[in-house]
Amino acid sequence: MSRKRQIHLGLFLQGAGHHVSGWRHPDAEAGSENFELLRRVTQMAEAAKFDMVFLADGLTSGVDAHPSMIARFEPLTLLSALAMVTDQIGLAATASTTYGEPYHIARAFASVDHLSHGRAAWNIVTTSYARTANNFSKSHPEHDERYAVAGEFVDVVCGLWDSWDDDAFKKDKQSGVYADPAKVHVLDHAGKYYSVKGPLNIPRSPQGHPILIQAGSSGPGQDLAARTADVVFTAQQSLAEAQAFYKSLKTRVVAFGRRSEDVAVMPGFLAVIGRTSTEAAEKLAELDRWTDIKSAMPLLEERLGHSLAGHDLDGPLPDLPISDQLRSRAELLTELAKREKLTIRQLALRVAAGRGHHMLVGTPVEIADRMQQWFEAGAADGFNVMPPFFPQGLEDFTQLVVPILQERGLFRLDYSGSTLRDHLGLDRPALPAAAG
Ligand SMILES: Cc1cc2nc3c(=O)[nH]c(=O)nc-3n(C[C@H](O)[C@H](O)[C@H](O)COP(=O)(O)O)c2cc1C
Repeated sequence: MSRKRQIHLGLFLQGAGHHVSGWRHPDAEAGSENFELLRRVTQMAEAAKFDMVFLADGLTSGVDAHPSMIARFEPLTLLSALAMVTDQIGLAATASTTYGEPYHIARAFASVDHLSHGRAAWNIVTTSYARTANNFSKSHPEHDERYAVAGEFVDVVCGLWDSWDDDAFKKDKQSGVYADPAKVHVLDHAGKYYSVKGPLNIPRSPQGHPILIQAGSSGPGQDLAARTADVVFTAQQSLAEAQAFYKSLKTRVVAFGRRSEDVAVMPGFLAVIGRTSTEAAEKLAELDRWTDIKSAMPLLEERLGHSLAGHDLDGPLPDLPISDQLRSRAELLTELAKREKLTIRQLALRVAAGRGHHMLVGTPVEIADRMQQWFEAGAADGFNVMPPFFPQGLEDFTQLVVPILQERGLFRLDYSGSTLRDHLGLDRPALPAAAG
């Protein structure tokens, strides 16, 4: 499919907002379990013609977690509900390769793809936090091992999605053939980590394969994405870093024999929008004023993978070994602190606002200019939009920024197809020859 390159937009949906204090804003309606709010903002993103709504996930909880992450719906369950109240927007959910089973994941995403008529996407994550193991009766593998498991896991899922020819389910009343035995393909996978026979117990889904998103930015993360993913979700701070990541990822994509445009790179983007620069700055200052440093520190420490107890909050970040927990984010934050000479307190406040994702405080034109710059300078193919709080943060973006992008021809005026593959300009995968 060849068409004019345009920006892809995802709504990174977190019920209590992205800024750690977003839920405290007088206009915020908070709650990751507030379905009425989640439905309304998803429909708002659909009316604005976003490519997809995106649900992150974790498999632990705790009172000192980010408010959007203390309690939230299981994402595939939520996607099923959202599929019933939307028609066109893509529906992306996070599921872990370290704590899931390929058969379950393949079946669940194929099911959502059927229920939504071709709008499902799986955000493949390896799960960073070792404490997750406490909930799953197993031990937590180390970083590179998690990626080795993930590679085989994704192969098994894709193989299971090819279990049936598109026309396998004959349901022929005359002959009595329900499912044609000549059109089933048994995977028979026996690998290092998984033994999965197949076939999957659901017909091949409308997109053939639901869209694969990969979130993990280290070398092994990029290799997994380059080989398997359609979209890469990433955190990037500066234009130069985003360009370097984009180049590195696309080079790997080509090395795997794919076209660079087969994979869309979508950094997270937190925009604090005001009618004037001063109004925008005041909005962020207000949110920051509600942030208690005691609630911000665990978020920073979690991303660095180290406790900062005993260090002067108004002093520089000490030299710490890069943790394997969230390797790419720890590197990003260490680099940011060095580059901008941030104190620990300042760095914690930055993490409280955007968790290390790119943040811009400005007018709608300034926000659109930044997106255009990254899009045209080889830093991004789109953005995962992170409103500081809901619903107003998204309203500001859809009403004030989207029209500017549309006027500039950078974003669609309407959907040109009905599946997420259509929105991303990706063809439906054929069944592999061996399976055909
Ligand atoms: C932008 C981004 C978003 C992520 N989202 C999630 C998530 O929702 N849930 C999760 O368990 N892990 C998430 N991860 C963690 C990754 O799956 C991975 O475990 C972690 O980033 C360490 O790998 P890396 O060093 O390759 O980045 C995310 C990572 C990135 C970079």
